Order: sequence, then structure tokens, then C-alpha cells
Amino acid sequence: MTKYVIKGGNPLHGTIHISGAKNAAVAIIPAALLVDGVCRIENVPQISDVTLILQILRELGADVRIVNRSTVEVDCSHIRNRQVPYELARKIRASYYLVGALLSRFGWAEVPLPGGCDLGGRPIDQHIKGFVAMGAEVDVRNGLIYARVPDRCRLPGGQVYLDMVSVGATMNIMLAAALAQGMTVIENAAKEPHIVDLANFLNSMGADIRGAGTDVIKIHGVERLRGGSYSIIPDQIEAGTYMAAVAAAGGEVLIQNVIPKHLDCITAKLVEMGVDVEEQDDALLLRRTSAMGRVNVKTMPYPGFPTDMQPQIAAALCVARGTSVLTEGVWDNRYRYVDEFRRMGAKIQVDGKVAVIEGVEHLTGAPIHACDLRAGAAMIIAGLAAQGTTEIDGIYHIERGYETIVDKLAAVGADIRVVTVPGEDMQSQVG
Ligand code: EPU
Repeated sequence: MTKYVIKGGNPLHGTIHISGAKNAAVAIIPAALLVDGVCRIENVPQISDVTLILQILRELGADVRIVNRSTVEVDCSHIRNRQVPYELARKIRASYYLVGALLSRFGWAEVPLPGGCDLGGRPIDQHIKGFVAMGAEVDVRNGLIYARVPDRCRLPGGQVYLDMVSVGATMNIMLAAALAQGMTVIENAAKEPHIVDLANFLNSMGADIRGAGTDVIKIHGVERLRGGSYSIIPDQIEAGTYMAAVAAAGGEVLIQNVIPKHLDCITAKLVEMGVDVEEQDDALLLRRTSAMGRVNVKTMPYPGFPTDMQPQIAAALCVARGTSVLTEGVWDNRYRYVDEFRRMGAKIQVDGKVAVIEGVEHLTGAPIHACDLRAGAAMIIAGLAAQGTTEIDGIYHIERGYETIVDKLAAVGADIRVVTVPGEDMQSQVG
């Protein structure tokens, strides 16, 4: 079993370079299925979710060439096998993008239901509603999603109104619509930076997608997409996680390779807490030298405060002065980490989607379990701010989404290392 062992109390000083965005990469790589020719994808994060999605494409018959540590070339021109391997697909949430991509390219998809972090119910009814509105027949049985275009191989396209703002449904419908015969309009679309990134990737390969980043996206289907080069945007949530780490542990860190605009929602809260944030072209300089104050935070779709930063800001608020109220506005159950924080002396009460955090003078190190990706990152932050030693197991969750997190933190002065002890990792379903 592999653990992270952290001796808390060191302020952080130095520079952290942010990798490519996980939630863009796991959509853009399957989007290569739509393209005739080689897609060169740069700024790809080295994380286990990316390894898995590339492995799925290889199993389908794609040529995947790792050019260097952040660049891959994917050629799906000669895909023959369209049956997605169950064991791989169920390990990752983003495998649902294979439905939109295969349906768009071949008019037919058979994909296992996706896995994913346990954040409460994670239905895919809006994805299915979108495919049906575009002219597909969709059936879910025996753990598989079957989708096909009756009597022809290209989807007609159609009008889709999403009942709730869904990142996954917006991107999946964009994928399905890119090679459709007609036009598709998505209303009440999600506006996250990775939605715009997927649209930019597809447009750079010849698609005609307009309005990404607003709540109405129009996609004129085209006959074919051709190969090309594309660089993925920096990871908003990885950057936000290190921003929260500097807030919690103190110090001064330059966070490089970011798009500051994407971080406005996080910056605003940290500034309200008393952290100095200086914006530069593609970097943010974070400084925290005195005590932090309380804030209230409600998570919302972009440009609101991201749900994927909720556990990390909670870790910082555990050591801020005063009582903060955190409201989860996206997922039903994203407070599973709270029991672990309590082992470290945090004072948190949860009632449904609301958590009340009473800041304490300091947390104390403890053995804890990373129950999902962002919760795991938050536990690292808590460990950095705590007195004594924190041991985190379940770190495969963290490695799904954070490239070399231990090296990045150690380089700015954190006392964190990876330790392997006898025993088995309880890795089951990730995503
Ligand atoms: N929803 C439905 N029906 C649907 C789709 C979504 O009811 O068909 C609901 C969900 O239950 C949830 C809300 O709508 O309450 C939003 O879900 P969304 O579809 O936006 O989430 P997702 O696409 O499954 C992605 C990220 C998540 C991130 C959310 C919200 C990927 C692979 N995952 O999930 O990222 O929390 O958007 O921003 O892009 C993470 O990176 O740690 C993570 C969980």
C-alpha cells in the first residue's frame, strides 16, 4: 500500500508549474475519434485518468504515440473495434464521452456505464435526452449504453434544452453533433473553460461550433474533421488547489502557466479571506503571512465557485478565524471527507448540502483516507497546515487528477513523501 506522509507546519515558498486540464483532456482525447488523420495534443497532464482513456482508444484500434511527457499523437483513422472494454470504461467517468464520439463518427456506440467519484447520484439522463433529441435511439441495459442512428450512419441533429447545467452532457452532445447532418442547438449549456477548450479543439480540426462559453451553443455538423495540433488549457482546479494550499500553509508561491480569468472565482474568495493574490500575464503570485478570516462559499456551475474546489477551500477554512458556511450547489453528497478532517481536530457540522466550519488554531496530524480525488487533495492541504504527521492512504484517487503532486509540493518546501508499506491498495472504482 502506498501512502503520502506529510509533516505539517512548513510555509510554502517558490514556483509551481500547472499542468494541462484533466477535465479538458479526458474529453479532447476521445474527440480524436471524430478525426480522420493524426491529432497532436499538447499540454496533456500525466495522470492516471489520461492513461486510462488512452488505453481505451488503443483497445479500439487507435494509433497512440507518446511524443514526450506532455504530448501525444492519436490517429483514429483506422478504428475497427467499436466495443469499449468494460473493465477500463467503468473505472473512469469520462468514458461517457465515447458514446457521443462513436455515435458521431460511426452512428453506433456500445459503451459500459461510467464509473466516477462517489459524489451522490450521477445520472446521465441529460446526455441521453440530448442524443435522442438529435435522432438517436438509446437504450441502457446490462450495464451498457447502446446508442444508434436508425437507418443511416449520421445523426440528423436537433434542439436540446438541458434541464440542469451539465458539463458532461454539454460536451457529449457537442461531440455527437460535430459530424451530424444538420444543426444542433444546446440551450442551458455549461460554460466551464473545458467546454470552450473542447469546442476550440474540434473547430481547429474543422468543426463548426459557435457560442461555447455561453449558455447557447450552436453546432453545424460537418462531413469530416481532419488532423492537426492542439494545446490543452491549464488546469483551473489544479491551480486552485495549490492556491488553497498556500492559503492554508502560508508562504509565498508563484503559480505559473494559468489563465488568471479562469481563477477569478477562487481568487475572489481567497482575497476575502485575507490572502494576497497578484495577477500576472500567465501566473498568480500568492502570499499569506498573517491569519486568515472566515468566508461563506456556495459552489455553482462556472463562473461560480467550482464544486471541484469545495473540499480544498474547506481545508483552508478549518484554520481560518471565525465560522464559515459552505453550501454545495452541484452534488448531493460531497462531504464524505468531513469525518477524516474531524480526526485532525477540525470543527465541522454538516446538514444536507450545508457545512458549518468553525476555524481552529491548528489541525493535528492523523492517519486518514482519501475518499475521492478532490477530497484527497484537500487532505494534503490539511496535512500541510497541521501540526505533526498526517498519513494519507487511498492516494490512487489523487493520482487520477494531479500530475506529480508530491514533487510539486516538495519543491516549494513541503515535507511530503511517498511511502510504500506492505498491504494492498483498496483500489476499486475510480473516475
Ligand atoms: N446531472 C443530472 N443528469 C445528467 C447529468 C448531470 O442530473 O445527465 C446532474 C448531476 O447529478 C449533478 C449536476 O447535474 O448534480 C452537474 O453534473 P455534471 O454533468 O456537470 O458533472 P459531470 O460532467 O459528471 C464534471 C466533472 C466533475 C465536476 C462536474 C461539475 C469530468 C470528467 N467531471 O462531471 O469533476 O465536479 O463536471 O463541474 O469532467 C472532478 O474533477 O473531481 C470531478 C468530479
